[in-house]
Order: sequence, then C-alpha cells, then structure tokens
Amino acid sequence: MTAPVRTDPTIVRVALDARSYDIVIGRGLLASLGARVSALRPGARAVIVTDDNVARHYLGTAEAALAHAGVAASRVIVPAGEASKSYRVFEQVCEAVISARIERGDLIIALGGGVIGDLAGFVASVLRRGLDYVQVPTTLLADVDSSVGGKTAIDSAHGKNLIGAFHQPILVLADTALLDTLPAREFRAGYAEVAKYGLLGDAGFFSWLESNWRDVFAGGTASGSSAREHAIAVSCRAKAAIVARDERETGERALLNLGHTFGHALEAACGFSDRLLHGEAIAAGMALAFEFSARRQGLLPMAEARRAIAHLAAVGLPTRIKDIPGPLPSVDQLMDLIAQDKKVKRGMLTFILVRGIGAAFIEAGVDAREVRMFLSEKLAER
Ligand code: NAD
Ligand code: GLY
Repeated sequence: MTAPVRTDPTIVRVALDARSYDIVIGRGLLASLGARVSALRPGARAVIVTDDNVARHYLGTAEAALAHAGVAASRVIVPAGEASKSYRVFEQVCEAVISARIERGDLIIALGGGVIGDLAGFVASVLRRGLDYVQVPTTLLADVDSSVGGKTAIDSAHGKNLIGAFHQPILVLADTALLDTLPAREFRAGYAEVAKYGLLGDAGFFSWLESNWRDVFAGGTASGSSAREHAIAVSCRAKAAIVARDERETGERALLNLGHTFGHALEAACGFSDRLLHGEAIAAGMALAFEFSARRQGLLPMAEARRAIAHLAAVGLPTRIKDIPGPLPSVDQLMDLIAQDKKVKRGMLTFILVRGIGAAFIEAGVDAREVRMFLSEKLAER
C-alpha cells in the first residue's frame, strides 16, 4: 500500500445523523477556515480559544482567515498545558465568551491540541445550553484522536476528564502543516495514537506504518506530506467508523482504549507531568497489553507481540516500565490506580486484549491477580 499523492484535502465524514460532520485533512488548510465557517454558519460570529504557544504560531493566520471571509471574531488565550483543563480556566473562558456577546447561532473555534479541544469543547457544550464549535487541531494527537468523536472534559482533583460531556463539533479542520512547529517529542507521543489504530484493528495499516513512519514524521517534503495526510486520514476513518457505531461508548468504542489500562496508571503515577506524556503512556501501555496478551493469556505468539513493541520502540516511544524516568509507586499502588480508572468487579477487570496485530477485543473477565503478577515482574526489571 502506498500513500496516494493528492492536492485536494481528504474528507472523512463522521456519520451521526443530524450531528454528522466532516474532518477535512490537508496541508495549508488554516487559510480556508473563514470560508468554511461562513459556508456552514452564514452570519455567525466566532470566538477562538487557544493557548499561548499555539497563539504565537497560528492565531494571526486563523484571525486573518476569518476576517477575509467576513466572520467577526474575538479571542481567548489560556496558558498551555493540562492545568488549563481546570474549573478556574473553564470559568474564565465561559466569562470571556459571554463578554464577547456570543449568542446561540454563533460558535467557538478550538485552535490547539487536546487540552484546548477538550476545554473549548466543554465550554461549547454548556454555554447558552450548547453552542456549535469547530475543532482546529494543532497536535498529531488532536488530529487523530481528541478532535474527533465529541468527548469533551476538564479535570477534577479526583482525576482527569471527570467533568465533561459528549458534544460533537460541526467541523474538524486538520491542517497538517501546523505539525511542522510541534516539538518532536509531542509529535512522537501523538504517533502512538496513530499506531494504535493499526494495532487495534488494521494490520495492513500497521505494516504500512512500519515501512513509512519516517515519511510521516518528516511531513514537510512531498512524500512526507502525503504520508502524513494518509496516516491521519486512515486514523480518522477508523475512529469515525467506531464513533458512528457507538457514540456514547456503551460497547465497541472502548476498543479505542487499547493500552489505556496500564497507560493511565503509569501516567497517573507520574503525576500527569512531563515525565510521561499521554501518548508516551499509551505506547508503554499498548506494549504491555501486547506482552500481557501473549505471555499471560496465551492469545498470540510472543513473536507477534515483539513485532508490535519493536515498532513503537523504533520511533523512540517508551515500551517498557524501565523506560520511564524517575521513581514509580509499588505494584499495590499501581493496582489501586488501575482499579480507580477501570473499576474491578469481583476481582475481575475489563481490559482491551489482543489476539494479534489488528485484532483487539474487549474482555470483561481479566483476573486482577494475573495483572498484578505481570506488573510485579515488569517493575522488577527496573
Ligand atoms: P496539548 O494540547 O497540551 O499540546 C501539547 C503541547 O504542544 C502544548 O504545550 C501546546 O501548547 C503545544 N502545541 C500544540 N500545538 C502546537 C503546534 N502546532 N506547534 C507548537 N506547539 C504546539 O496536548 P495534546 O497531546 O494535544 O492533548 C492532550 C490532551 O488531550 C489531554 O488532556 C488528554 O486528556 C486529551 N485527550 C482527549 C481525547 C478526547 O477524545 N477528547 C483523546 C485523547 C486525549
Ligand atoms: N480517546 C478515546 C475516545 O475518544 O473514545
């Protein structure tokens, strides 16, 4: 499979009846933001919500694009980082949007990574009992995961994403050129979510990534640009299909949580800090889920698990507990973190396991003692 060479953007439809929308993917699309917004909502005004890093790079272009199309716009800039998914910043953004006299029929534009998408999307879900919003993702993670599917949230002192809503955007505009300024480590962390789609349900895509990941990372060249667009489009198609079948995560959508049981526990153990970015935690979590499925559950040959792990390691993602810098809690504390995240019912955990690359499934009856033993071994390797 080679990535098709294209100049027109790729459009992926998220089919949700009256809440359907397009994900438009291509290089240089930010300049078309105003035209696309005014075509969707003629006469609407907009507030751009962004963070201070992204504002420095792209707010000017976004505002110029809106002005060019005659869309009146104001802006709210919040500090970059997870700490902005807080009650305090949520309140500030709500008040700023109200002050900008945004009414029903107007819209919010989330210009940024997953933090901005989650925060601005949640503001849109509640303000004036629900405003439209547009996602303009600026990280790879946001391109392929957080901007698609309508999960919005802020964090509570008790945990991440505990205060939120399902609220679908009316458009996702994924300009792949915006990734050129993304720090390499953030790009790599987002790539873990790209690889996830191959690992969970598309062995052919995973093989393609094994051969083409360098082009996906390079991005700026002609072959890089089309490889990056292809990888984002395949990922978005996979997520769109799952979301269309299970918008509220009553079943199949949980497959998107491959790697999250171990990953979230490790992320929490590192205090959701720069020690371990979300995508890095998911990479380590997926590697552990493959090894657990092979060695502890006998679901696939260990050689196949090693192949999955080797690709994640080749791009520079952490795949072993010993790759995580700094101290980690005991196995009991990690098991407590898993239990908080996942709920253990009569000693059984719900887990996303794999029968092979591209063959993930939801298993509600994983014995927590097996998980504990496996984690003990992994911690001992440090
Ligand atoms: P992020 O939004 O914090 O962005 C990472 C960093 O990159 C920030 O410092 C940001 O300012 C900077 N940045 C963003 N775009 C840039 C660009 N183009 N150039 C230079 N710098 C840029 O992090 P993220 O990884 O995009 O998102 C993580 C968040 O997403 C977490 O809060 C997580 O809970 C959430 N998430 C949500 C979903 C969902 O379905 N809603 C899914 C996965 C993750
Ligand atoms: N990131 C997982 C989901 O959107 O369901």
